[in-house]
Amino acid sequence: MTYEQAFELLKKHSQTHLLSFYGDLNDREKRSLLDQIASIDFSLLSLKKDDREEKAKHSFLPLDALRLDEIEQRRDEFEKAGMDALREDKVAAVLLAGGQGTRLGFDKPKGCFNIGLRRDLYIFECLINNMLDVAKLVGKCFPLYIMTSDKNNADTVSFFKSHDFFGYDPSKVRFFVQEMAPSVDFNGKILLEDKGRISLSPNGNGGWFSSLQKAGYVDEMKGNGAEWVSIFAVDNVLQRINDPAFVGATLKSGAVCGAKVLRKNSPDEKIGVICLDNGRPSIVEYYEINEEMRTLRDETGELLYSFGVTLNYLFKIDALEKADFASMPYHVVEKKIPYINEKGEYIKPENPNGCKFERLAFDIIRTFDSCLPFEIVRQREFAPVKNPTGVDSVESARALLELNGVAL
Ligand code: UTP
Repeated sequence: MTYEQAFELLKKHSQTHLLSFYGDLNDREKRSLLDQIASIDFSLLSLKKDDREEKAKHSFLPLDALRLDEIEQRRDEFEKAGMDALREDKVAAVLLAGGQGTRLGFDKPKGCFNIGLRRDLYIFECLINNMLDVAKLVGKCFPLYIMTSDKNNADTVSFFKSHDFFGYDPSKVRFFVQEMAPSVDFNGKILLEDKGRISLSPNGNGGWFSSLQKAGYVDEMKGNGAEWVSIFAVDNVLQRINDPAFVGATLKSGAVCGAKVLRKNSPDEKIGVICLDNGRPSIVEYYEINEEMRTLRDETGELLYSFGVTLNYLFKIDALEKADFASMPYHVVEKKIPYINEKGEYIKPENPNGCKFERLAFDIIRTFDSCLPFEIVRQREFAPVKNPTGVDSVESARALLELNGVAL
């Protein structure tokens, strides 16, 4: 793309400010900026906050979970089915680690955060330890694909290597990089993070399957016998990943997807809720939920929409291959985005100053006919590290790790 072509394109979308500092750049930087402009998906810019919600027609109903008491009664049966599938290499996993962890405010990938007190214990290490529990039972590690972003890939890969993959079988681990989307200010103007660099950020965890496919790893997974793949977030240090009971229960249910869920601890808990929408399994984010769904109770006093999701799902790979990922909505999320102003000065905002566009992994579930919500015990499997202190924080996760016998 030439300068003139870039200018015309930007003019059409009222974004010519991106070329304000073109004259200050060297030839390599100029080339790079023109390439970045050529790759912008301008269709995103017409999205507004809650755009999707304004357009969508919903008809919600509760979706019951496989509850703890039933899981206990059928535990042997579920575990056997799960162990068989894992032994036959039918199950892989994807760690979604492309996020920027802005709330934690740690300048390295979130998984490199040391949550130990008297010894080193990294978030990635906690997750690997949990997966090694399954590997010990099964006799081998399941394939693990780690999604990073352009911003944290190099740090993540070198961290795993320098720690010998925390004892996980390195031949079973692959890294792949997710795609990026431009960030805008509240007037819809794309931000520059430097004179020759557009502000790009990871496009949300919902792009994981297409990025995995592009990297050639869906074919590799299937070639090695996998029929199921789970995804999980980097921040829940207590979560069990591909534990045989969950795998077995999902496989036996006949559903194409399983979701680990827990009982909301109050109507106001900031957690997405699993339900049916127009007869299909669906997740409604806490900021999208209406008053009725938030507070309605059944005759026993239990919240009608009581099961919250934990970003730990198991999917049938052939259902993912048939799913229409292109139709997944983008969510517009307000964030603090560092940028350079019209004078070329670098600004690190203290409050949200713009929006990022993100696809969310759970949105694919509404394209499926079936999903099994599988209840977990909150105190044993849910300790997300989102903030430095307070709710879902380093502090609360440390307390829960200790409660579960993990030495810090
Ligand atoms: P969060 O929603 O907590 O986002 O991600 P985040 O970017 O990590 O953190 P904040 O909101 O800026 O504080 C949930 C999971 O999805 C992954 C994260 O790494 C985390 O495991 N994720 C998020 C991606 O893999 N890619 C993304 O673009 C966003």
